[in-house]
Amino acid sequence: MALNLGDTAPDFTQESTQGSISLHHFLGSSWGVLFSHPADFTPVCTTELGTVARLKPEFEKRNVKVLGLSVDPLSDHEAWSKDIEETQGTALNFPLLADADRRVATLYDMIPPNAENNLTVRSVFIIGPDKKIKLTLTYPASTGRNFDELLRVIDSLQLTAEHKLATPADWKNGDDCIIVPSVNNEEASKLFPKGYKEIKPYLRTTPDPRRV
Ligand code: BEZ
Repeated sequence: MALNLGDTAPDFTQESTQGSISLHHFLGSSWGVLFSHPADFTPVCTTELGTVARLKPEFEKRNVKVLGLSVDPLSDHEAWSKDIEETQGTALNFPLLADADRRVATLYDMIPPNAENNLTVRSVFIIGPDKKIKLTLTYPASTGRNFDELLRVIDSLQLTAEHKLATPADWKNGDDCIIVPSVNNEEASKLFPKGYKEIKPYLRTTPDPRRV
């Protein structure tokens, strides 16, 4: 069954390059990114894993744990990780699930029913500290993902989890935010002491409250 935003991320236990992982225990009170890619020893995936390894400090800064997955055995992951280090200049520094029995891929619907090769596609699940799914993305095998975009989304998710705000198109950390429609002007003045601009009654912006 398809997973939807707001669902609890199904728990599982599976082998990984960093030992056996149980998702909920692994996440603890952190945010999480669970992402799949089609197969080991493939070119786009090699660049994706190198990119995530390079961005790991950015995920850590945001209290996010990353967890990759492909439906290959641990022995392949270990051999491939040497190639990743050699070609991408960054060693694999986060766990990669060895989902050869497709247990997690099936649980998370990462293999489209009409897939010709029975491989996972590029799925992403962002999971909150409450273990609820906050974002899902599905890319085809031929298109590598933009992981800076995931960091941008995490910034928005973390901001809007704390404040009655939303973020506009192309928003980046520190840019002005949008006051959600359920907040009236009187409440907005109290909640956002930096003030707000009313462009239309339904379109009100305020500085990012975390900006110093
Ligand atoms: C890749 O990761 O390079 C890839 C995997 C499956 C199909 C096409 C590209």
